Amino acid sequence: MSDFDRGKKALPPAEARVLLDAARAARRNAYAPYSDFPVGAALLDNQGRIFTGVNVENASYGLTTCAERAAIVKAISEGARSFRAIAVAGPTDEPCPPCGSCRQILHEFAPHLQVIISEAAGEPRILPLSALFPEPFGTPTLDDTEKGRS
Ligand code: THU
Repeated sequence: MSDFDRGKKALPPAEARVLLDAARAARRNAYAPYSDFPVGAALLDNQGRIFTGVNVENASYGLTTCAERAAIVKAISEGARSFRAIAVAGPTDEPCPPCGSCRQILHEFAPHLQVIISEAAGEPRILPLSALFPEPFGTPTLDDTEKGRS
C-alpha cells in the first residue's frame, strides 16, 4: 500500500480545486429529473487519472445510482484499484457530502480516501473518509468472524 493509499499525502489545495471543478463539470451530465438535484463526482486514482460520475435516477426511485458510486464503478471497471481523493459537487456551492451507502462503497476500495466537498464561497474542504465513516464494516470484520467460527 502506497502513502497515497494510506492518505498520508494530503492533496494540495490546488489539486483539490481541480478535482472539485471536474466534479462540477461532470454534474452537467447528471440524470436527475425526479429530484432536480444533479450531483457530479470526480475520483482521483494514484496514477493521476480522474474518473467522473453523476447521479442516474430512475422512475422507480430506489434504483437511483449516486454520483460517487457511478464514479467508482467506472474506475474499477477500467482497472483502477488505488484511489487518493474524491470530490463531490451538488447543484449549488453548498456542501454535498457522500450519503451513507456511498461511504460504505468508497470504504471497500479506499479506506484512506480524502473527500473533497465545497464549503463557503465554493472553496474546497478536505475530509478523511475515516472521519466521515468511523467503525466501518469491512473485510477485516469478515476475517475476524471467520477466525471466531468453530
Ligand atoms: N445523491 C448523490 O448522487 N450523491 C450523494 O451522496 C447524495 C445524493 C443523489 C441521489 C439523488 O439522485 C439525488 O442526489 C437526491 O437525493
